[in-house]
Amino acid sequence: MTTLPLSPDELLTTTRSVRKRLDLDRPVPLELVRECLQLALQAPSGSNRQNWHFVVVTDAEQRATIGEYYLRSYTDYSAARPSAADEYPDDGRRAATQVRVIDSATYLAERMGQVPVLVIACIDAGTADLPASNQAGLWGSLLPAAWNYMLAARARGLGTAWTTLHLAYERQIAELLGIPDTVHQGVLLPTAYYTGETFKPAHRQPLHEIVHINGW
Ligand SMILES: Cc1cc2nc3c(=O)[nH]c(=O)nc-3n(C[C@H](O)[C@H](O)[C@H](O)COP(=O)(O)O)c2cc1C
Repeated sequence: MTTLPLSPDELLTTTRSVRKRLDLDRPVPLELVRECLQLALQAPSGSNRQNWHFVVVTDAEQRATIGEYYLRSYTDYSAARPSAADEYPDDGRRAATQVRVIDSATYLAERMGQVPVLVIACIDAGTADLPASNQAGLWGSLLPAAWNYMLAARARGLGTAWTTLHLAYERQIAELLGIPDTVHQGVLLPTAYYTGETFKPAHRQPLHEIVHINGW
């Protein structure tokens, strides 16, 4: 598969969370997903362990079940948080963005089970309980690979979104998919062709507020 003519900077600044623009009706070839996962494996991992796993779900019934768990978790999450506009009362621009994010997240939550491919990135920690220390070492060995997958997908005309709300039902989803006890889920990546032409860079909080040169 050829990739879109994107410069590295364009790829990095336009790999957005795609929700409303996921094409739910267009099938995604499994080979294309494999190609993106092959690129995911170029990510770093602690001691080069590569103890990541990617569960690719295309079965309609399994997707529907995961979608139900996701929506249940999303509904609880939404009920427990302030309204989008109230979250940033002193920053109108950020509040407006948040309203759009919530609107888009709600759209996806109501349709997660219809997204043609759901990829769950997991890590085999070798133990059923997550280690109390060095969480960064554990998750740092999975999450860069998941982001690589998203970048590779974007370069091939596929949209993805980083989602974690399914984790409220991690055990149930593990049972559904036969994921072993020692394997922990890190992120659920709905994957579909996207509609429309391209994506824009997002507004972010200013760099000077979060960069600390030679000390905090
Ligand atoms: C750790 C993490 C968890 C996230 N969980 C969810 C989620 O469960 N559902 C969702 O719709 N988006 C989720 N997001 C996506 C964020 O809302 C999104 O990255 C953010 O609004 C910035 O938008 P952008 O990715 O388009 O730049 C998550 C992102 C991260 C990094």
